[in-house]
Amino acid sequence: MEVRAILKNTALPLLDTELLLAFLLNKSREFLFAHPEYDVSAAVVKKYHELEKKRLANWPVAYLVGEKGFYGLNFKVTPAVLTPRPETEMMVDDIISLAQKSSLKPLIIDLGTGSGAIIISVARELKAKFPALYRRSEFQAVDISSSALKVAKANALKYKLDKKITFHRGNLLSPLKLEKRDLSPTELIIAANLPYLTKTQIKAAPSISREPILALDGGKDGLKYYQELFKQLKGISFRNAVIICEIDPIQTTKIDAMASTLFPSAQFSVLPDLSGQNRFFMIKL
Ligand SMILES: C[S@@+](CC[C@H](N)C(=O)[O-])C[C@H]1O[C@@H](n2cnc3c(N)ncnc32)[C@H](O)[C@@H]1O
Repeated sequence: MEVRAILKNTALPLLDTELLLAFLLNKSREFLFAHPEYDVSAAVVKKYHELEKKRLANWPVAYLVGEKGFYGLNFKVTPAVLTPRPETEMMVDDIISLAQKSSLKPLIIDLGTGSGAIIISVARELKAKFPALYRRSEFQAVDISSSALKVAKANALKYKLDKKITFHRGNLLSPLKLEKRDLSPTELIIAANLPYLTKTQIKAAPSISREPILALDGGKDGLKYYQELFKQLKGISFRNAVIICEIDPIQTTKIDAMASTLFPSAQFSVLPDLSGQNRFFMIKL
């Protein structure tokens, strides 16, 4: 069957079909545009129909092809990790500019690292553009899920950052044992894209039904993990710390109230995503 016939008869949006077909043929999407007459074997057509069926059952394209583009890199993904979202790329830019401004040694921490997309993108960008800053920075990542950490470690290895980034399994900051460290020479820069949805939001969104519940469910108001993180931070003594949390826009007032109660003298800001929605809550302690 010709490529053009598959594209014409697909039950999926065109982009999904192109991505799946390009993956099965081990060709680029551009190749498909340039060669609509290319003959696809019956075996590949059969495989395509299997993937099409899975996609119709809400499997993300990223899981079907095993990778997802993020911040110009290609991350391995499996159903053990959230597929990194484009809006999260802004957090990478924010972490990089915070690190650049740091007069101390940045200790960059990615909480709920999943595929490792945030910390790997930050480390790679610093290594390429600011090598001296990269050398004096420390990179730590944490996830509660050991199967997610396997994926993150594979991605770090792929980008030759496995010796620079340390991965830990555990609850938020606890495996890092920061309370036992002298943090005076460092500035803590914490990226936290923790689960922040409620059960009702999860139930109402079939498109995320195949993603790990551990990556989505943030408890009753979606803020369970941020609340716990802030409490953990209260028990640590440091000179400077900045925390950026990815949130649902509707949580803005509540997270602000929560953080203000615990850190009355901190500075808070809310940063929008590309569509202008409140997406990041930043605390400077
Ligand atoms: C929303 S996903 C974010 C994944 C990745 N950082 C990204 O931006 O694509 C949240 C991640 O937090 C992890 N997680 C959930 N509870 C955690 C906890 N108590 N401590 C550390 N990580 C946790 C999940 O396993 C999941 O990988």
